[in-house]
Amino acid sequence: MVFTPLLIAALLPIAARAANDWAQPCFGECNWDITSDTGSGTVRIAGPSAAVSDITPAAGWMIMDCDPNTADQDIRLVCQDPSKGCDHIYTDSAAGTLVRLPKSCGSTPFALVTRDWVHKDQSIPASKRSSIVRRDGSDPVVKGMSLATNFADVDTPTNGNVTLFLMGSSVPGAAGNFTVDPPSGTAASKRGLGSWIDSSLKGLSQVHAELIGNFNKNITGSSPINFDKDFPIFDQKIDCPQNGAVPAFSGEAKVDLDAKVDGTVNYGIAASGSIIPPKISEFGLFVGLDTSITGTLGLGATLTGSISSGKISVFEVGLPGLDFPKIFSIGPTFSVNVEATASLDANVDMDVDLAYDVKGMELFFPPGSNSQAGTFTPGDSNLKLSVSPNVTSHGQVAAHLIPSLAFGISALGGITKATINLDLDADAALDLSLTAAALASASTSGNNASTGVGGCVDITSGLAVNAGADADFFSIFKKGLQVPLFTKTFDLFKGIHRQV
Ligand SMILES: *[C@@H]1O[C@H](CO)[C@@H](O)[C@H](O)[C@H]1NC(C)=O
Ligand SMILES: *[C@@H]1O[C@H](CO)[C@@H](O)[C@H](O)[C@H]1NC(C)=O
Ligand SMILES: *[C@@H]1O[C@H](CO)[C@@H](O)[C@H](O)[C@H]1NC(C)=O
Ligand SMILES: *[C@@H]1O[C@H](CO)[C@@H](O)[C@H](O)[C@H]1NC(C)=O
Ligand SMILES: *[C@@H]1O[C@H](CO)[C@@H](O)[C@H](O)[C@H]1NC(C)=O
Repeated sequence: MVFTPLLIAALLPIAARAANDWAQPCFGECNWDITSDTGSGTVRIAGPSAAVSDITPAAGWMIMDCDPNTADQDIRLVCQDPSKGCDHIYTDSAAGTLVRLPKSCGSTPFALVTRDWVHKDQSIPASKRSSIVRRDGSDPVVKGMSLATNFADVDTPTNGNVTLFLMGSSVPGAAGNFTVDPPSGTAASKRGLGSWIDSSLKGLSQVHAELIGNFNKNITGSSPINFDKDFPIFDQKIDCPQNGAVPAFSGEAKVDLDAKVDGTVNYGIAASGSIIPPKISEFGLFVGLDTSITGTLGLGATLTGSISSGKISVFEVGLPGLDFPKIFSIGPTFSVNVEATASLDANVDMDVDLAYDVKGMELFFPPGSNSQAGTFTPGDSNLKLSVSPNVTSHGQVAAHLIPSLAFGISALGGITKATINLDLDADAALDLSLTAAALASASTSGNNASTGVGGCVDITSGLAVNAGADADFFSIFKKGLQVPLFTKTFDLFKGIHRQV
């Protein structure tokens, strides 16, 4: 693999780009990073000095027993090195202080101390003794602290409000530190926060473009989305017995779709608000997409009437998510839905190809000042159509192939959850109005109809990208929100054929 110098410059600092410095105590402000091979992210919290403190070794503390898999618990700890600032946690009172936890304690980056006391168990395990006992030989006092992470439920008075800014990315190394400083002073108004989200997402999308490159699908972080299947959408037979003067008849309508989705997706998020009290005030999602969507729709119908398949889910798979434990998590899934409708009064056989190429598409939700970008090209529809002889025929057929991305988001210990859906609705539609006294057929390759047909055939295809949310998410968006992000319709074939 050949890296461009730009890419090398972007990749090199990944290791060094950690905003969370375990050697420096967090007093008044703190960063915490996600650095995994499926994503990256940083959360920054800040408040009055007394509101944010630290119980990691960086601030002189040593925790003696703590369950690394539990969030809310009572722990025992000692101040091992007072010179590093253990006492900072007592600036106001330890209870009411949000503290950074070491990775070995607790399953979350931060917890609120709700109670602190001199523990009645003053024993120090032999394994920790050598590093804990002070120079003068005395044992330090063993403290007890209760930790809570369901910030909304805590009734302990806190030492002040603590703001929250976070950025996350599906690309390792892309959001390892803050590319944008959180706004301060007057810029921290609602409007300033909105533009912080917009510029953070813009920055992330640029870093993504550098890291992923336009043509290399192998870098992790751009998750593959693949689907290849040939399946019936519906196959409906109708048998009607003779009824008075109407003779018995039967009919069948069959719709098959041979569909293929081949692409990659990457995403980034930015959010701001406060951890105390727990509230997200601004949020934005960015999705980068490269994909081809191809399919062949086959329709064979020998009946008169309307049929509709409804939306059918044919595929679903989870993609790597991001988790800032108890603060913010996002879990994407990729699914494929299909839908077909037909309203016919003649025997129709039709094959139409759906073919779309989406390159470098960037979608922002909610749509902010960042514009959606990317190229989108429809391929040849390769239409083949034949209609039964001697009928006057009117009909509409529409087929939809809908790859979807759903982003489940959960904020602040799950006090608010919502799912943002991005549907890429690729459709092909046939509108038929024929008055024929002979076999009619049409094909886009020949753009020609055989003799004896008068009427219109109109075939369109389109791609619409719609975003929606299924639940209220703080006051950022409302349940049922639908935003069209992109719509394009193409006339693939329009034929007017005169009877000869
Ligand atoms: C803390 O947050 C609450 C709720 O958002 C707000 O009413 C209060 O004014 C804030 N306090 C300070 C000191 O900013
Ligand atoms: C990451 O943080 C360092 C130190 O704060 C800064 O110099 C650097 O520019 C940041 N990297 C990016 C990509 O913003
Ligand atoms: C991408 O990965 C595949 C399978 O691991 C490999 O065959 C291909 O050569 C790789 N492409 C690049 C550009 O590295
Ligand atoms: C179609 O109509 C023509 C002329 O009316 C007739 O000769 C022919 O048999 C009909 N074909 C069918 C299949 O009904
Ligand atoms: C349509 O068909 C006629 C007769 O077969 C042929 O001469 C003509 O070139 C065709 N037109 C196109 C656009 O293919």
